[in-house]
Amino acid sequence: MDGRYKTLTMSQTALILSKYPLDISLVERTPPQVGPGSAVIRVLAANVLSYAANVYSGRRPYPHPTPFVPGSTAIGRIAALGSDATLLQPGQLVFFDCFIVGRDDPTSLILHGLHSGTTPGSAKLAEGEWRDSTYAEYAMVPLENCFPLDETRLLGDLGYQVEDLMYLSAMSVPFGGLRDVGVKAGEKVIISPATGTFGGAAVITALAMGARVVAMGRNADALERVKALNPDRIRIVLNTGDVTADTNELTKDGPADVFLDISPPEAVASTHMQSCILALRREGRASLMGGQRGLVALPILEIMRYNLNVRGKWMYTKEDVRVLINLAETGYFKLGPAGGIATPTAFPLKDFVAAFEVAAENQGFGGGAVIAP
Ligand SMILES: NC(=O)c1ccc[n+]([C@@H]2O[C@H](COP(=O)([O-])OP(=O)(O)OC[C@H]3O[C@@H](n4cnc5c(N)ncnc54)[C@H](OP(=O)(O)O)[C@@H]3O)[C@@H](O)[C@H]2O)c1
Repeated sequence: MDGRYKTLTMSQTALILSKYPLDISLVERTPPQVGPGSAVIRVLAANVLSYAANVYSGRRPYPHPTPFVPGSTAIGRIAALGSDATLLQPGQLVFFDCFIVGRDDPTSLILHGLHSGTTPGSAKLAEGEWRDSTYAEYAMVPLENCFPLDETRLLGDLGYQVEDLMYLSAMSVPFGGLRDVGVKAGEKVIISPATGTFGGAAVITALAMGARVVAMGRNADALERVKALNPDRIRIVLNTGDVTADTNELTKDGPADVFLDISPPEAVASTHMQSCILALRREGRASLMGGQRGLVALPILEIMRYNLNVRGKWMYTKEDVRVLINLAETGYFKLGPAGGIATPTAFPLKDFVAAFEVAAENQGFGGGAVIAP
């Protein structure tokens, strides 16, 4: 790039979700125009969640006003910048973080292109300025959600592909929870379930933070694949549904310092919530990041007697994202095949159905799908 503002094309292609369920089409439309407080990014790779089809088909009913451009966190290049940008540069490679926070109210929170939050303020963000997301050639996004990436280091020295950088999105979620409960090097951290997209990312993230990991799940084969990542620092425990037996197995090398839950909605009756909390030491910490739909049974008496700190966490802070990118740039953990993380398959916009299917079927670390408009 030559350092000047790139002229936006007169037309771009974008996916539009007109109404639920899954009325999505590819359209030609004018690119978004930049204004103060925003950047327009040329989207290079946009994340596809394992449950994207469930959300956009309404099976997992996330609120969002229609019509809108769906999307998620993305790797992009700055195409145009608002006049108040002070750090970002035209042409710069950036990590766009989809978690948008109200500037005048930090309790107004949305997931760009996915979820319009739970308050009237959040709904206003998704209704207006930040309605359209990244399944488009160009997306207008808040300046503060664009994190500069050291392109020379990441794509040059470390040899990553743009798609490999997308795994930072999966890692950012558990990194938010693990930092929120102050995970320290050498601590024993239980991750459950550890075999899904975010659970697997949680294992990699906890290792990068210096922890030793106990990975718990229901699928023995999938757990073996998790262990293969780092047999010295990962122990696996099968979730058998027998709380006493599972707690004994979790604690056979001593109680844990931290438990991170990252359950899907259907895990509402899973007993790991009890066995993992019962496996914590006195003053132990639990970060509850799961999206169980319904009431979950917790061992309240032990939470009280052992002074356990049980905290919910939605996503992460901006500082978490910056620190995570720093760790990647220093090479403290490896992305892509060098880190045991499969490069996701890139799909053009028109193949979004295939992208959703591949993302849903994906098992293991990385892999899955990104949309590359
Ligand atoms: N707090 C946040 O900020 C945040 C952000 C993003 C996502 N989330 C939540 O994280 C969840 C997981 O997302 P993901 O993309 O990792 O999903 P995923 O790839 O589909 O993985 C789901 C995991 O849950 C396990 N599982 C499925 N059904 C279960 C059940 N009934 N009981 C126990 N374990 C079960 C699966 O393993 P097995 O079937 O092999 O046992 C798998 O490990 C999402 O559904 C969402 O609610 C939270």
